[in-house]
Amino acid sequence: MKISIIGSGYVGLVTGVCLADKGHSIICVDVDYKKVADINQGVPPIFEQGLEKLLKKNIKTNLRATADLYQAVMDTEVSFITVGTPFDGEKIDLTQIRDVSREIGETLRDKNSYHLVVMKSTVVPGTTDELVVPILEKEAQKNAGPDFGVGMNPEFLREGVALEDFMNPDRIVLGAIDKKSLDWMEKIYQCFENVDIVRTNNRTAEMIKYTSNSLLAMMISFSNEIANLSAAIGGIDVTEVMQGVHLDKRLSPFVENGKRIKPPILEFLKAGCGFGGSCFPKDVKALIAHGKQIGKHMKILDAVIEVNQNQPSEIITLIKKYFPDLREIRIAVLGLAFKPGTDDMRESPAIPVVRDLSAQGAFIKAYDPVAMEAAQEVLGNNNITYCQSLNHAINDVDVAVLITAWDEFMQVPELFANLKAQPLLIDGRRILNKNSFRRYDGIGL
Ligand SMILES: NC(=O)c1ccc[n+]([C@@H]2O[C@H](COP(=O)([O-])OP(=O)(O)OC[C@H]3O[C@@H](n4cnc5c(N)ncnc54)[C@H](O)[C@@H]3O)[C@@H](O)[C@H]2O)c1
Repeated sequence: MKISIIGSGYVGLVTGVCLADKGHSIICVDVDYKKVADINQGVPPIFEQGLEKLLKKNIKTNLRATADLYQAVMDTEVSFITVGTPFDGEKIDLTQIRDVSREIGETLRDKNSYHLVVMKSTVVPGTTDELVVPILEKEAQKNAGPDFGVGMNPEFLREGVALEDFMNPDRIVLGAIDKKSLDWMEKIYQCFENVDIVRTNNRTAEMIKYTSNSLLAMMISFSNEIANLSAAIGGIDVTEVMQGVHLDKRLSPFVENGKRIKPPILEFLKAGCGFGGSCFPKDVKALIAHGKQIGKHMKILDAVIEVNQNQPSEIITLIKKYFPDLREIRIAVLGLAFKPGTDDMRESPAIPVVRDLSAQGAFIKAYDPVAMEAAQEVLGNNNITYCQSLNHAINDVDVAVLITAWDEFMQVPELFANLKAQPLLIDGRRILNKNSFRRYDGIGL
């Protein structure tokens, strides 16, 4: 099918490249001219495993980028909306959604054939029906249903493994205003085999996305709350606690040969220095704010956010146990991105940790395998040396604090063995073997 994707960020570009590879004809639209030029040159504006290869394969055949939304909508049968929906401190900011809906609507006024508009951005339940549809109808001077279709297809990809997730979805959720819109959306995805498809209305599709993210965020904060209590009680290691919990056969079921499977959900039942990224924090906050607006206090989700906001400070507390005065203490911060596999710094726990350490007078040596440039933009250079290698970062420091669970950091014990003076290792993700270090501490220990 001919599809325009409005907003060529993480979700838009990955969606565009993957659907192009599946044989659809894709036009990626963005207001950012540099992004458009880069995409047309086959250069992805973001780092994502495998993206460059797939972009280069499809550009100029099944895929092109433009800043001309009008022409892109005119030349296609379906438009996905994949612009940002940030949290403005009080509620979800729908400015980009409004702008794009208005522009699509204006275009539909001039278009003679049926067109389907699909919301892919994460929006609070009711947004597509109550905000987008009225704007489209007003601007197009046409009726949703007979004249154009509207659907909601939330995206579940995870940054770092975005292409793999998009190409092998665990489910495809399709909401829509009517059967024709649903049928068209299903046609887009018929090239994906053996996937469970949920057909529903728009607001349920919107709610599925928030519920999924809130559940995962809740499991992380729950694990962190247990970790903090374990550490406060003393004599408990939360990694052993969670190991014991994971062995509940409802969490790690036995399969026929008597072996257990370890579902990926267990990764969310582990202690750490908190979740970040462009989705969990903003989505949970947006749902809380939406609940508040309609008189429903989301007590559990409030606590999820409170625990998470406090979690980076647990790292500072741990370091101060050994160095009460942080002035001139040399600290290696290992990992800056909010999670491995991405250069995304949005809401990364590394930000408050580095800022706090630096404000207290520590000298920071920061290292991340891919997020150095992005980190420098966010954190600046005050008291921070950006290191080219892990080895450089851990050399000549008093403390090394692990913030992001990159695979590369599994070598830390080996590298420490070659150091003259052994720094204290603070494990913010509890991924390293505590017995491999002379001086080790971590969340939930
Ligand atoms: N990033 C993720 O992992 C992820 C996963 C699932 C869902 N989501 C949701 O998808 C949506 C997009 O997220 P993202 O991370 O891709 O955002 P992003 O900020 O990376 O990308 C948004 C893009 O939209 C462009 N844009 C803004 N206004 C525009 C306009 N008027 N016309 C054309 N382009 C415009 C921006 O320039 C930007 O390139 C959000 O609602 C987010 O919550 C994100």
